[in-house]
Amino acid sequence: MVKLLVVFGTRPEAIKMCPLVREFRRRGRMEVRVCVTGQHREMLDQVLALFGVTPDYDLKVMQEDQTLFDITSRVLYGMKGVLEEYGPDLVFVHGDTTTAFAASLACLYEQIPVAHVEAGLRTRDIYTPFPEEYNRQAISLAAKYHFAPTQLARYNLRLEGRDPESIYVTGNTVIDALKTTVREDYKSELTEWAKGSRLIVVTAHRRENLGEPMRRMFRAIRRMADDFPDVKVIYPMHPNPAVRQEAYELLGGNGRIRLIEPLDAFDFHNLMNHAYFILSDSGGVQEEAPAMGKPVLVMRDITERPEGLEAGTLQLVGTDEEIIYRACRRLLEDKDRYERMSRARNPYGSGTASKKIADIIERDLL
Ligand code: UD1
Ligand code: UDP
Repeated sequence: MVKLLVVFGTRPEAIKMCPLVREFRRRGRMEVRVCVTGQHREMLDQVLALFGVTPDYDLKVMQEDQTLFDITSRVLYGMKGVLEEYGPDLVFVHGDTTTAFAASLACLYEQIPVAHVEAGLRTRDIYTPFPEEYNRQAISLAAKYHFAPTQLARYNLRLEGRDPESIYVTGNTVIDALKTTVREDYKSELTEWAKGSRLIVVTAHRRENLGEPMRRMFRAIRRMADDFPDVKVIYPMHPNPAVRQEAYELLGGNGRIRLIEPLDAFDFHNLMNHAYFILSDSGGVQEEAPAMGKPVLVMRDITERPEGLEAGTLQLVGTDEEIIYRACRRLLEDKDRYERMSRARNPYGSGTASKKIADIIERDLL
């Protein structure tokens, strides 16, 4: 039997890879094992529980305040053991995390083919996002299959000389996940708390934003909450202690701002769906929001997801306090602008990416 190995380690990879694991398992024509690196712990386990995926291998690499050296070396060595024991015919990695990079490097060293899901996103600035832009370019070098979410991603891979026969445009598996989570009749304690107010949902965690940029972001959010009494803010905080410390200091003690633990994807997607708008430096949120018609002020200078800018849902606001604050103000005060940004236009496919990927792999390997 053909042996597949699906590797992931962080929350966003898990959200986007569990639909693929389930698709292969549903078909039952190939052996599919899952290796989690445990680059994340609680946030990863939340997703595994939600999608009912039990890993076959767990490298348990996470440490508090882990460095890129820690993650890379621990995943690389851990993967060596898994590859030697299982001997997969093909290994799936996702996107641009250090888990995905180190796993693809381990496959290269063992000369095992790699399938890259969410391939071809680029900013072409190696430090933005950091170290993700390097990771995704490096994975492309090792990959045999490039599953590009959009035509633009395909174009980026072609520019780098990748063989056109190895690139497939499939849409993004995040839409597959969204189809299983979002419910129009959803209600929770959080949505009840926000009732009658305009709810702003926040996420922030990027490595290159830690420190002063994140403080500026949080100050802008605080000003917005102080100046608009009909606004309530919910921020499910990333567990990174460097993020939390600043969040408590700059956003704590305001009755209209709630700093909470990370939500599982079911609750988070539905909370997004109840939001007035979203403030985020996250990648995945930029893909989900256009499908829901939820404006996102993206707290980055540059994005690898220009499809959302084109759809009109995203606005890049960088990390300057005044610019973020003014953009929030404008979106809260300018009804026409808000309506324009709120039209749902989904550039990431119809939720069939996992199916398309499985079809291609079965056609080639069975
Ligand atoms: C990682 C990825 C980033 C991705 C993000 C998604 C890299 C280099 N970075 O960044 O691309 O956007 O995940 O969230 O691959 N922590 C916990 N529990 C958890 C998760 C994290 O306590 O479940 C804490 C730990 O102290 C850890 C720290 O957060 O040391 C940072 O985690 P890490 O995976 O290194 O970086 P992220 O910012 O999460
Ligand atoms: N998300 C979640 N719970 C939260 C916050 C975010 O499930 O409390 C989801 C979000 O919907 C998206 C993914 O996590 O699918 C994004 O992850 P993150 O921002 O950690 O990483 P990035 O996408 O920036 O790599």
